[in-house]
Formats: sequence, structure tokens, C-alpha cells
Amino acid sequence: MADTPTAPASPELDPRDFRNALGLFATGVTIVTTKTSDGEPIGLTCNSFSSVSLSPPLVLWSLSLRSPNLPNFLQATHFAINVLAHDQIPLSQRFAKPVPRKFEGIAHGFGAHGMPLLDGAAAQFECRTEARHYSGDHVIFIGQVLQYSYADRAPLGYFRGSYAAIQPVLQNS
Ligand SMILES: Cc1cc2nc3c(=O)[nH]c(=O)nc-3n(C[C@H](O)[C@H](O)[C@H](O)COP(=O)(O)O)c2cc1C
Repeated sequence: MADTPTAPASPELDPRDFRNALGLFATGVTIVTTKTSDGEPIGLTCNSFSSVSLSPPLVLWSLSLRSPNLPNFLQATHFAINVLAHDQIPLSQRFAKPVPRKFEGIAHGFGAHGMPLLDGAAAQFECRTEARHYSGDHVIFIGQVLQYSYADRAPLGYFRGSYAAIQPVLQNS
């Protein structure tokens, strides 16, 4: 018999166990970037990215209220989503730490709307911030995609707190 979910949700749920359950939802890995009011590129590793709408083209991601970069993203009119390729784990690790000057020594350029774009990414979306919603301990950013590009590169996956390879499964048709 297949395993069945056991632990019911409750208002006083155990945060670690809740994270374990959420970790079963496999995702890609992105680095969301923008520029400070001084023009310095900043960014963070983020797997809360999701598509929202095709027409108009909308995407979302959420940022922890504890991020030191919160004021930078709140003041910015635009952001970029860099979808990481399978060989960019070191980049993901670097941008997942609260350290200054994360872009130092990192190959990158700037998109048509001035947002920092990381070399070697599998896909990139430059967005104008459409809406922000404070929800719990995060802020959800919704962006309208103004420009995008993608390459024939296998994406990096994330699952149960670890990086993962994403491969197609053979199906019987
Ligand atoms: C795979 C992965 C996914 C993450 N996803 C998010 C996310 O969606 N939102 C978020 O606020 N932090 C996320 N984080 C944590 C941030 O990357 C981390 O807190 C980082 O220090 C934030 O950058 P900052 O401290 O410079 O703001 C994630 C970390 C990893 C490793």
C-alpha cells in the first residue's frame, strides 16, 4: 500500500516537521537580483519562485521579512529571476548567505531594464514589480515579465533540503 500522509495540520504545528513536509515539493533554484538605490547589484538564492499568469506574463517569489535585503527589494521598481543551471551550486551557496558584495568576482551583465543577470543561468526573467503582499513572515513580490531569455541547459533542482539533478522520466505511452 502506498504511504499515506499522517500528521494533520494544526495551528500549533512543529515548524521543523512542517518544513520537512514542504521539502517534498521539489523545485528549481533561482537567484533573484536587483540594484540598490546606489546602483549596487544584490541578490539572494530563492526557490519560492513560481509562474502566475501567461497573459499578462506574471511571476512571483517571496522574501523573508528577516532578509537584510528587504529594504533594497522594497525600494526597487524592477527585479530579475535567474534560474540556475545544474552546474551552478556554488553560486546558489554564495547567494544563500547574508554577506556583502556577493557579485564580486561573479560573471554577470545587466539586462535591458538594468537588472543584474548571471552568466550561465538556464533562464532569466526581467520584471517590473507589479504588487507586493505581506503574508506571515514573508513578502510576496509579483512581477510583470518585460524580457526573458533561456538556454539549452539542464536546470538545478532542490528537494528535501538538498540540491538535486532533474531528469526526465521514461513514460510508457
Ligand atoms: C535553495 C534555497 C532556497 C531559498 N529560498 C528562499 C526564498 O524563497 N525566500 C527567502 O527569503 N529566502 C530563501 N532562501 C534563503 C536565502 O537565500 C538566505 O536567507 C540569504 O541569506 C538571503 O540573502 P540576504 O541575507 O543577503 O538577504 C533560500 C535558500 C536556499 C539555499
